[in-house]
Amino acid sequence: QTGMFTYDPGFTSTASCDSALTFIDGDEGVLLHRGYSIEELSEESSFMEVAYLLLRGELPSKDQLSDFEGTITRHTMVHEQLSTFYRGFRRDAHPMAIMCGVVGALSAFYHDSTDITDPKQRMIASHRLIAKMPTLAAMAYKYSVGQPFIYPRNDLSYTGNFLRMTFSVPAEEYEVNPIIEKALDRIFILHADHEQNASTSTVRLAGSSGANPFACIAAGIACLWGPAHGGANEAALNMLREIGTPDRIPSYIARAKNKDDPFRLMGFGHRVYKNYDPRATVMQKTVREVLTALNVSDPVFDVALQLEEMALHDDYFIEKKLFPNVDFYSGIILSAIGFPTDMFTVLFALARTVGWVAHWNEMISDPAQKIGRPRQLYTGPAQRPYVPVEKR
Ligand code: SDX
Repeated sequence: QTGMFTYDPGFTSTASCDSALTFIDGDEGVLLHRGYSIEELSEESSFMEVAYLLLRGELPSKDQLSDFEGTITRHTMVHEQLSTFYRGFRRDAHPMAIMCGVVGALSAFYHDSTDITDPKQRMIASHRLIAKMPTLAAMAYKYSVGQPFIYPRNDLSYTGNFLRMTFSVPAEEYEVNPIIEKALDRIFILHADHEQNASTSTVRLAGSSGANPFACIAAGIACLWGPAHGGANEAALNMLREIGTPDRIPSYIARAKNKDDPFRLMGFGHRVYKNYDPRATVMQKTVREVLTALNVSDPVFDVALQLEEMALHDDYFIEKKLFPNVDFYSGIILSAIGFPTDMFTVLFALARTVGWVAHWNEMISDPAQKIGRPRQLYTGPAQRPYVPVEKR
């Protein structure tokens, strides 16, 4: 071929890896964390219990869970100097831009847990990241709305603490509604880990160079922000709101099918699932629970249900095996709870930090692991002689 080299690399690609954390069967719509189904975990478990399971490989006993929650709780505060860091951003900065910056900066504040060769420091950094993400996320929200930062409290659950830090104001305490707390905790479980998705692969690749864990998680946050990945939850609700009424759905389905139109149905399709994303099933059920509990009806939910119904009976979507994914319904719940759309991906990052940290630990503690080096098929010109500029 013109200039195309062909070669047999004679090696297994470093782009793939072994992992014991999560199993996905995309054809069957199966998702397991350390062998437990996402359906059972999201129904029976808590986010902290799933965090322990992903990090340590087994469901904790009551005492183990209590110790783990106590450790995480005691790491929820952040260095006071970090609040100055927030003040360097414009108030209208996207909260994900703030999270990319602030999480990357953590290694400047917690350099006593950046030695990746020390298992003790690795675990402290892991606990710090899981514990501080809700505090940092709530601070990003507070900064964007011009309200004072609210400190974490040790008498609240992980998710309850986050809700209070986000929605409390000095003038009025936010009462954590247990139904909302349970729904958000379930949403965190649904986002905790998902095998070698783009952002997790980013964290593993960054970690393979020996970069400190805070920098690796910041890299994962940056990758997650993309609308094809974690940014889809924000894009999906914006799309549903733009559709507005069921009669406008056919025109959006037609656009999604038009090869010449870059528009995609946000919250639909998946690299791996060629069946219904099991997380979307749980998410749809949770929407009903939250809207009923809050005694609100959201016309966007009706649009979402009718859009799903029409798409799943459309030949294009059937042939391409396109189904709702985790991002299709999540925004409806998060909006009903009170989060603005630009916080949706921040919540995804908060929850996915558990998976990222578990994958980072799994990779970094493998003595055989080498620096990642995805290879390429060279498609450029064959070697050729230099031509001086006067002769070009
Ligand atoms: C997440 O990897 C993970 O696990 C990610 C994630 C996680 O938990 O980490 O699950 C989270 O990122 C979920 C995905 C969120 N993104 C979106 O909802 C954005 C909208 N979806 C698309 O951009 C798309 O479906 C992707 C990016 C998710 C996947 O795109 P691919 O790799 O092109 O999917 P595919 O190969 O299965 O597509 C098959 C065909 C293609 O057309 P042809 O090239 O065959 O002609 O279907 C088309 C695609 O163009 N297609 C769509 C579509 N998704 C795919 N057409 C219209 N609307 C869509 N949503």
